[in-house]
Amino acid sequence: MCGIVGYIGNQQSSGILIDGLKRLEYRGYDSAGIAVHDGENINVVKSKGKLVNLVEKINKAPVRGTLGIGHTRWATHGAPSDINSHPHISGDGTIAVVHNGIIENYIDIKNELIEKGYTFVSETDTETVAHLIDYYYKTGVGFVDAVYETLKRIEGSYALGVICKDFPDTLVAARKNCPLVIGIGKNENFIASDIPAILHHTRKVYFLDDMEFAVIKSDSIKIFNMDKNEVKKDIFNVEWDIDAAEKGGYEHFMIKEINEQPRIINELVSMRMPKDKNFIDMSGIKLKKEDINELNRIYIVACGTAYHAGLIGKTLIEKFTKIPVIADVASEFRYREPVIDEKTLLIVVSQSGETADTLEALRIAKRNSARVLAVVNAVGSSIAREADDVFYILAGPEISVASTKAFTAQVVAMELIAFNMAIECGALSKEEFETIKSEFYCLDTKIGQILDESEKIKALAEKYSKSRNVFFIGRGLDYVVSKEGSLKLKEIAYLHSEAYAAGELKHGPIAMIDDETLVIAILTQEKLFDKTLSNIKEVKARGASVIAIAVEGNNIAAGEADDIIYIPRAMWSIAPVLAAVPAQLFAYYMAYCLGTDIDQPRNLAKSVTVE
Ligand code: M6R
Repeated sequence: MCGIVGYIGNQQSSGILIDGLKRLEYRGYDSAGIAVHDGENINVVKSKGKLVNLVEKINKAPVRGTLGIGHTRWATHGAPSDINSHPHISGDGTIAVVHNGIIENYIDIKNELIEKGYTFVSETDTETVAHLIDYYYKTGVGFVDAVYETLKRIEGSYALGVICKDFPDTLVAARKNCPLVIGIGKNENFIASDIPAILHHTRKVYFLDDMEFAVIKSDSIKIFNMDKNEVKKDIFNVEWDIDAAEKGGYEHFMIKEINEQPRIINELVSMRMPKDKNFIDMSGIKLKKEDINELNRIYIVACGTAYHAGLIGKTLIEKFTKIPVIADVASEFRYREPVIDEKTLLIVVSQSGETADTLEALRIAKRNSARVLAVVNAVGSSIAREADDVFYILAGPEISVASTKAFTAQVVAMELIAFNMAIECGALSKEEFETIKSEFYCLDTKIGQILDESEKIKALAEKYSKSRNVFFIGRGLDYVVSKEGSLKLKEIAYLHSEAYAAGELKHGPIAMIDDETLVIAILTQEKLFDKTLSNIKEVKARGASVIAIAVEGNNIAAGEADDIIYIPRAMWSIAPVLAAVPAQLFAYYMAYCLGTDIDQPRNLAKSVTVE
C-alpha cells in the first residue's frame, strides 16, 4: 500500500524517482508526487490519478536537483486528489515527507499543532508528520533529531522518507511495520518500498528493521535504533534478474506471470525434491519427526489468495499428520484470541511477506511461544525475517496485483511441507513417495499443456463476457480452487462472483440461479466427481450455463455442461495446481474482454500493509 522512493547522489533525481515509482505503481496508483531539492528550496509536483499524469506535469515544468523523494498512493485518509497526494510539506516548505502506512494518533497531534498555529491543507494523516518534524526542527534540535522526536510521538505504521530545505545533503528514512530498503550505490544512495524500484541502480541493499531510522548522504548511510545507537547491518545482495520485473513482451504482467508457472514450479520441485533422493529437502526448516510429535495444533494463517493456498495445506497436513489444523484469515485470527502455546506451529503464507494482518498474526504467535514457519515469496521481507523458519517459494517478483504464479507456487510449497510431514510421521511409504515425486516432476509439462489451450479459454471468456453473476462450485480441494477462481474474477473483471461448496448450493444460494447465471464447476477430485456432476445437473435444470473444468478421462456427456475445459490427469492432491490455471486464464480473458485495468485493478494494491 503506497510506494515510496528516494534518491541522493550526483544525478538529477526526478527521472530516477519517476522510474522507481513506475516499478512501485503496483503498490498503489490513485495519485503520485515527487519533492526535489534544488540546492535552495524543495519543489513539489503532485498529481491525482496514474503516474502518467504526474509525468506529464513534470515534462511541462521539469524540477531539477540531486536529492528527492517520491510517492505513489493508495488512499487511506482522504480521497485521491492533488492536495492529498504525497509528498506533504510543512507550511513554509522547510520539510517534505513521503509516507506509507497509517499514523493512528494523528488527530491528537493535528489538534495540538493547530493550537500552535499550524495550518493543514489536506485530509491526510501524513501532513501531521511534516508539520510535527517542522515544529521540532524549529525548536532548534536539528533536522535528524526533529525526525527522531517525531518518531517518538507517532503511533501506527510507517515507512518514511524525509528531506529538509536546509539540508540538501541529507535524506532521512524510518520504518515501523511497513517495508523499506536502502539501496547502496557509489556516491549515491536510494530508499524504496521494494527492491524492483532501485534494481536498475544497485543490487546491494540494507533492510531497515522496525523502529530504526537512517541518515543517508550520497557517500554514507548510518542506521540507528530508537536509543540512537548506531546499528551495523549486513549488506544483502539481490540475486534475481532485472528482467523478472519487466513485462518481457507480454501485454500484461498477469499473463506473463501465468506463463511463468511451468518454469517456477519446475525450479521449486527440482530444488526441494532432488531427483536422486528419496526425501524432501527441508533444509533449515525444523519439521523433523521429533518436532512434529511436539505439536498439539497447527494454524495456517494468511490473506486472500495466500489463504486459499493455506487451505490446501490444511487438508493435506491434517490428513497425513492427524494433528488438528485450523486455517484462518489473518484479519480474523489476530482478533479472536486463538489458543496458542509452545506446542503450536503457526504457518503463515504471504507472497509479499509484508501483509500487515499476517505479520501481526506471526507476532501474536511468537509472543505466545509458538513456532512460526513462513511460506514467503519476497526474500528478506518482514515476515521472512521474523519467522523462525522460512520456506521460500522463489517465484520471483510478482507485479500484477492479481496473484497467479505465487498462488501455484504456494500450493506446491504447502504440499511439499505436508508430504514432508507425512514422511516424517511414517504416513507415506517409499513407493507412495516415488509416485508423488513423479507426479510433481510432470507438473510443469501439464501446466504447459493447459497454457497451450489459452486461445480456447479466451474464446470461452468472449462467449460469457456478458455474464453478470458467476458461481464457482466444487468439493474438497476443488472448492478451494473455486474460491481462488472466484477471487480472480472479482478483482480483475469486477464481476459479482461467489464460490460455493457444491453441496451447499441447495441450502440457499441455488435460489439465485437462473438463465443469466454462469456456473463454473471444478471436478478434479475423482471420488467426488459424481457428486459434483449431480450439482451441475441441478443448476442446469434451473437454466444456468455451465463451464466444467474436469480431468481428461472423466468425460462429461454433451449436454451435461455447456463447455468443458479438460486438464491433464493428476493425483488428487496435486490436481488443484492444474485446475487453478484455467481459472486464472478465464479471469484474465474476461477482464481483457471487459477492458478493465488488469494489472492495476481499481481500489486495490499489491501489498496490503495497513489493516
Ligand atoms: O502478499 P500476500 O500474499 O500476503 O497478500 C495477500 C493478499 O492480499 C493477496 O493474495 C490478494 O488477495 C491478491 N490480490 C489476490 O490476487
